Amino acid sequence: ARVVVLLSGTGSLCAALLDAAADPAYPAQVVAVGADRDAAGLDHARRRGLPTFVCAVGEHPDRAAWDRALAAAIAAHEPDLVVSAGFMKIVGPAVLDAFGGRLINTHPALLPAFPGAHAVRDALAAGARVTGSTVHLVDAGVDTGPVLAQREVPVEAGDDEASLHERIKIVERQLLVDTVAQLAPTVREGRKVLS
Ligand code: GRF
Repeated sequence: ARVVVLLSGTGSLCAALLDAAADPAYPAQVVAVGADRDAAGLDHARRRGLPTFVCAVGEHPDRAAWDRALAAAIAAHEPDLVVSAGFMKIVGPAVLDAFGGRLINTHPALLPAFPGAHAVRDALAAGARVTGSTVHLVDAGVDTGPVLAQREVPVEAGDDEASLHERIKIVERQLLVDTVAQLAPTVREGRKVLS
């Protein structure tokens, strides 16, 4: 299955997917990596000679124009599956119309708990003893689409946001790699993922 990855940060999740896809037995391959800024994570693709694209909100007259440009940039690579891996923008109707049902996101909490951009900090602040990682279908909301897979991560005494997020990311990487592999046969046939 052809996968396009979207990121905004260091791209450690994207790197995990690229490493998994290096095994010819893995049922998916990353065909391009895109970002909403010149993110460091794009270097994981550049080092492997993969195409990259940057679609920055500020380069467009408004959010709707950005959304259409992002949809076109993704479509140019003819993906079977689009993976948001630390992509910190809410996609709009153009992207959802084009890729809804085969656009997934990974989130560092057990949704519906702790949605939004500060999930790890919020779980700590709430005194959660257990948190985790979620892979879900993206819909028009913020981290609200149907859950596809989840895995728990314990909160340790003395954890701060960084130590907990790093522990979550270890699980998050594996959950994403496993979930993409499970979805590959479905999306490769051009079918959408049933929630
Ligand atoms: C991941 O935990 C992702 O779920 C969250 O931000 C982190 C991205 O990490 N939205 P990286 O850029 O893949 O290292």
